[in-house]
Amino acid sequence: MPSVYFQTFGCQMNSADSDEIRALLAERGFLPCGSPAESDLIVVNTCSVREAAERRARSRIAEFASAKRARAGQRLWVVGCMAERLGDKLKEEIPGVDLVIGAKRMERIGEAIEAHFPKGIDVGADTGGVAKIGISRHLPPIFSKTAVTDFVPVMRGCDNYCAYCIVPYVRGNERSVPYESVESAVKEKVDAGIKEITFLGQNVNSYNYNGIDFPELLSKIAETSGLARIRFTTSHPKDCTERLIEVIASSGKFASHTHLPVQAGSDRILSLMNRKYTASRYRCLLDMIRTRLPRADITSDIMVGFPTESDAEFRETLELLRAARFTTAFMFAYSKRAGTAAASMEEGISQAEKMARLTELITLQTEITREIYEKAVGEELEVLVTERQQKRDLAWMGQDAGCKRVLISC
Ligand code: SAH
Ligand code: SF4
Ligand code: F3S
Repeated sequence: MPSVYFQTFGCQMNSADSDEIRALLAERGFLPCGSPAESDLIVVNTCSVREAAERRARSRIAEFASAKRARAGQRLWVVGCMAERLGDKLKEEIPGVDLVIGAKRMERIGEAIEAHFPKGIDVGADTGGVAKIGISRHLPPIFSKTAVTDFVPVMRGCDNYCAYCIVPYVRGNERSVPYESVESAVKEKVDAGIKEITFLGQNVNSYNYNGIDFPELLSKIAETSGLARIRFTTSHPKDCTERLIEVIASSGKFASHTHLPVQAGSDRILSLMNRKYTASRYRCLLDMIRTRLPRADITSDIMVGFPTESDAEFRETLELLRAARFTTAFMFAYSKRAGTAAASMEEGISQAEKMARLTELITLQTEITREIYEKAVGEELEVLVTERQQKRDLAWMGQDAGCKRVLISC
């Protein structure tokens, strides 16, 4: 049987896309392989969001490409967002790459795979059933890491064009997955034993399929029997409405967690970023969420060093962080991405200054996170246990109803 090794960079959407490719390859008889050296096919799923993400992917691809020469017949595929940005130039840059499939082709990935591994010809038995376009299927158990949680993409692409962001260029315009496909994917997964589903989209709140918007999709899916918990990510603050929060508050099926990327605390910077909200509007949104969902974890993405950000404006971000008290946050230094609106702005901040701001931001958030976690000492949490710790095999891992990861030693 042929085997495949996956290396996935980037966000949860990329993880879901890798799962989709795994499922298509499994239908063609491929088995998972834990070692790149021993696999017949290596798939590298790439991210373009920051320069460092591309650097990491490039060096891994180069590593695979040079090791590949020692192994006759091995194939190396590069897929995802960097594959979209660079296209076949990647093949020239790194000899040894056999195929490049960009992120915009993910909905038609079944056709690409069929072109290279026609069912029933190259490998394995034909399991029947043509790949459904644009929706993730349940993975054969041999491929899945955990049998209780899974992703379902509900929309792809982004129309927001935040000034710093490459995603709209590499993922394309917003497209919503038909409601019927979302519903059947959820049912199929729940029947296979999945307890928790995370709906994915660059901005899930933009979901709209034949008049069904995101709050309606959530209330319909919440009726699914056997489904214990629903999560979703990411919500753009400009589109996070009271109605959405009402839907979440009205059913016990939703995780008590909202990821709401704020990016910055200065109105001038938010406007330059094209985020379409102010810091005070964002704080009102937090107040509304905390009134309806007092125990909810709120998490965020924050960026420092956007072009022209002054020290005083950076301090406004720190101020917002102190007020918001996010449970955790992903924090980044601005990275220039060619082709975006911000790429043509004069930065006016040294790399050293950006790094100093990032360190200060992380120090503050770490302190807030520690205080929030300390407050939870002695509390009883409902935890969905997902997997056994792999390296030390000491504990079970899981997640509470919010965003907190939990280790249970036993
Ligand atoms: N769709 C999501 C975010 C996708 S990218 C949203 O709108 O919230 C994830 C995070 O990466 C962003 O929230 C942002 O904080 C960060 N990011 C995006 N582009 C970046 C860049 N050029 N430099 C640094 N961080 C960036
Ligand atoms: Fe990027 Fe903004 Fe779209 Fe998020 S909403 S993916 S940050 S352009
Ligand atoms: Fe990266 Fe593409 Fe996700 S750029 S963050 S993998 S949408």
